[in-house]
Amino acid sequence: MGIGVEGKEENVKEAVIVDGIRTPTGRAHAEKGWLRTVAPDELLGTLYKAIFERNQAVKPEDIEAVYIGCANLSGPQNSIARMSWLAYGFPESVPQNNIEMQCASAMAAIQHCVRAIMADEGDIYIAGGVEDMLRVGMAANMEFPPKLGERYNPLDLPMGPTAEKVAAAYNISREEQEKWALASHQKAATARDAGKFKNEIIPLEVTYEDGSKKVIDSDQNIRPDTTLELMATMAPAFKPDGVVTAATSSPLNQGASLMLLMSRDKADELGMSYTLRYKAGAQVGVDPTMMGIGPIDASRKALNRAGLTVDDIDVVEVNEAFASQSLACMKELKIPLEKVNLWGGALALGHPLGSSGCRITVTLNNIMKTDKTDAKYGLATLCVGFGQGNASIWERV
Ligand SMILES: CC(C)(COP(=O)(O)OP(=O)(O)OC[C@H]1O[C@@H](n2cnc3c(N)ncnc32)[C@H](O)[C@@H]1OP(=O)(O)O)[C@@H](O)C(=O)NCCC(=O)NCCS
Repeated sequence: MGIGVEGKEENVKEAVIVDGIRTPTGRAHAEKGWLRTVAPDELLGTLYKAIFERNQAVKPEDIEAVYIGCANLSGPQNSIARMSWLAYGFPESVPQNNIEMQCASAMAAIQHCVRAIMADEGDIYIAGGVEDMLRVGMAANMEFPPKLGERYNPLDLPMGPTAEKVAAAYNISREEQEKWALASHQKAATARDAGKFKNEIIPLEVTYEDGSKKVIDSDQNIRPDTTLELMATMAPAFKPDGVVTAATSSPLNQGASLMLLMSRDKADELGMSYTLRYKAGAQVGVDPTMMGIGPIDASRKALNRAGLTVDDIDVVEVNEAFASQSLACMKELKIPLEKVNLWGGALALGHPLGSSGCRITVTLNNIMKTDKTDAKYGLATLCVGFGQGNASIWERV
């Protein structure tokens, strides 16, 4: 029994992260994408296999349930959690759920699992996420309800325009965004070259159209050679006089991530090691034309629930959907950038939408395990398309 949500001593179980893995992230590009011939069921199925290979004390049939985030559940991503599980030979008796909360889908999936553990419904869960933005584009098969158009101008709702609006509202200049993008690439390249991602990335052997094969074990979007001068020459991506470019937007990607979550009691019984337990989380809604500010209210609400202040947080992973919104959120929350995205963020590591909520949590776990071993609390947070935010606080045990 341990500390529950709201930060109070409660008769609830503790939920801990036993393992976290991910695929490398590829560009969703029909010719240049390193993972272009890999379908989403393979991204996820590869991780389903790897998580059991790495954690032999756990058998697939021991899993109480699987929750997988995915932002666009159409086409080959329809029922992706179950389809992949069955396709890769796992037991029919274990149930799968697809969770959709746009960019925070996988964080919502994690929250489903930790709540179930804390409520003592089960002891062993898999949470994760997947997105193949090559086969299923961001807005594929999406229809705006006409009534929504009566409430909001439909031109204000796509992600790019919201990033421009946040930049204007929070006074985030193009130069500031480009500096943050540069830092993201530099931190990601440094972390990659130091082998920091080795524990989380499961390499994929990819067979290309001509039969050639290559093992992909790193993220495709990291651009260590980018410069402020180069970025300054790029055209605005979303409006002619805008300040957001391709360099200050997260790219379009393919990727998946997965976590093994357990009650602390079960992890101890099985002799599994862990670093972090779930402390508190919060989901909020905000103005959809300013969707990028979601992490502000979500983080405040989660901190409040945990009985913490922003100064208690040692390490932050904020999803860099856009440079403008991640900077606006950190500024508004008064979080020093030295604590943020230490191994780079989505601008460099990529943003396969439905996977990112798990990817940033996996990375947070690894940072606190290996680099920031004195850190007590970590915060992971994302903005969400159509105006939501999600945040989770993890505590060293
Ligand atoms: C912004 C956007 C429209 C750009 O699309 P794109 O033009 O296909 O962008 P790419 O990533 O392929 O980059 C195009 C070119 O810009 C240049 N470029 C991109 N980032 C760069 C950087 N950091 N430094 C230098 N050049 C860069 C490169 O020349 C690149 O082409 P190449 O690498 O193939 O030579 C697209 O990435 C996008 O929609 N992003 C937002 C996604 C989103 O909304 N996600 C959800 C968030 S809530």
